[in-house]
Amino acid sequence: MKYLNCALLILAAVVFAAGAACAFPIGSSVENPKKGILVVAFGSSMPEGEASIEAVADAVRKAYPDVETRVSYTSRIIMRKIARENGKIVDEPAVALAKMAYEGFTDVAVLSTHIIPGEEYDDLKAVVDGFKAMSANAPKAGFRFIELSSPLLSGAADFERLAGVLADTYSEQTKKGAFVFVGHGTHHFANAAYGTLQFALWEKSPNFYVGTIEGLPSYDDVASRLKTAKVKNVWIAPAMLVAGDHAHNDIAGEEPDSWKSMLEAQGYKVTPVLEGLGQNAAVRTLILDKLREAWGGFKP
Ligand code: CO
Repeated sequence: MKYLNCALLILAAVVFAAGAACAFPIGSSVENPKKGILVVAFGSSMPEGEASIEAVADAVRKAYPDVETRVSYTSRIIMRKIARENGKIVDEPAVALAKMAYEGFTDVAVLSTHIIPGEEYDDLKAVVDGFKAMSANAPKAGFRFIELSSPLLSGAADFERLAGVLADTYSEQTKKGAFVFVGHGTHHFANAAYGTLQFALWEKSPNFYVGTIEGLPSYDDVASRLKTAKVKNVWIAPAMLVAGDHAHNDIAGEEPDSWKSMLEAQGYKVTPVLEGLGQNAAVRTLILDKLREAWGGFKP
């Protein structure tokens, strides 16, 4: 029994030593951890859209001044476009995380800037889960800690909080007419978030409306509600992180099929608000709360 105990102790010591030797890549250790944050966005090729993403990244840098913060895009089309046109290289999450692992980062929080847990978020989660598996099975290829934040609208309380922030931001407009938020929309089940946001906003003012470009509620849904609301003025703003291509074209464009044009054809005075959610400081605070949750006990 004495020998068995001794053997177990030696085994434990060897396992511990091996773990300590392998768990951390070159240049970092438990005593010398290297912490990083990866801000992940769909991406935008428009300067206004990029500014919205950078505003979020800057807020993160301000909140975590000692942690290196990098930005990653998920849209390869956008990454290729900005590389071609501006020579700007942005990595997709898998590449950005592989580089961080190679550079010796030990603890990484991945900040999702997605509004809903849809397909884009699922894909990002799969990448982070892949790194989690690597971290567990091949520590040299992974991290000591890696966690992904949840999207802006992922729990019941999130809707109330976002609705509160939006109602505060646009309370003046709702006194004079209707304020329509246009989300991206998706075939994914998470599209239900837009309907939930609509109810949360109606708790603040009956003059808030939520529609989507690719899902439900649709333009027709919003238009028929506006008809019964008997308003003259309509403001329209993207319920998206950035006021990029969708906001400038599908929502506020001059083409006859934009939301602005279609609403004007119905006789409304339409004022587009070309501000992405990332440009709203109060919304950035909500996004930062998600990052804080992701760090959990590892909060740097
Ligand atoms: Co789109």
